[in-house]
Amino acid sequence: MRLLLIGAPGAGKGTQAGLLADRFNLTHISSGDLLRQHVRERTSIGQTIRAYVDAGDLVPDAVVMDMLRKPVIAAAESGGYVLDGFPRTVDQAKSAFEVAHALGVEVQAAVHLDVPDEELIRRLLARSRGSDDSAEVIAHRLQVYRERTIPLLEYYAGREWMFTVDGAQSPRQVHEDIVARLRKLAAFDTSGGNGHS
Ligand code: AP5
Ligand code: MG
Repeated sequence: MRLLLIGAPGAGKGTQAGLLADRFNLTHISSGDLLRQHVRERTSIGQTIRAYVDAGDLVPDAVVMDMLRKPVIAAAESGGYVLDGFPRTVDQAKSAFEVAHALGVEVQAAVHLDVPDEELIRRLLARSRGSDDSAEVIAHRLQVYRERTIPLLEYYAGREWMFTVDGAQSPRQVHEDIVARLRKLAAFDTSGGNGHS
């Protein structure tokens, strides 16, 4: 199974990706976690992208694409992936599709986690992950989401493999809603199946 999770900062992408990975034996790939790891380990990528992550701005597409290519292909070959935080722009979705399509590892379902802004802010302030969880940077991340990622949802709108769930429920209920929707899709067949554009 090959899944995408799309949602605003704090929508629960990481939480739900973890639950789905456990349930279906998928590899959880979080673009944000991988980028933060580069920053922590002070790799050359880490030095390039630190300022973007700290400011809540998107890292340049080419960096993210290069970083994800190998892990995504490896995961697709060993049971599937749940991608959390990528793609988050229309351009990323288009480039990723071209690469994945050529390899036959296209996404089979995209889940949009819908959560009101007040709840997102409440969750992020309660958590405080580090440099990008100050009130100011959270506000900027939400603005970047509206400007860059909402158009991605519009781009995917109407495709039968993309659906929205109410992400403001308990983590367990959100998970069950996702699973129920996946069961209705042909792509739920974990043996493989066709991808989608
Ligand atoms: P990224 O790491 O993706 O962060 P984000 O989108 O801001 O989202 P978060 O990770 O903060 O939240 P989440 O949706 O995973 O929610 P979580 O499960 O943690 O990106 C960080 C940065 O990296 C970006 O700003 C950018 O710079 C860069 N980047 C990443 N991907 C990129 C890309 N593709 N292109 C360019 N740049 C990129 O939950 C949040 C909190 O809420 C937790 O405390 C959790 O316990 C709680 N919670 C979760 N679910 C629930 C629930 N149902 N009810 C109550 N609480 C809940
Ligand atoms: Mg996350």
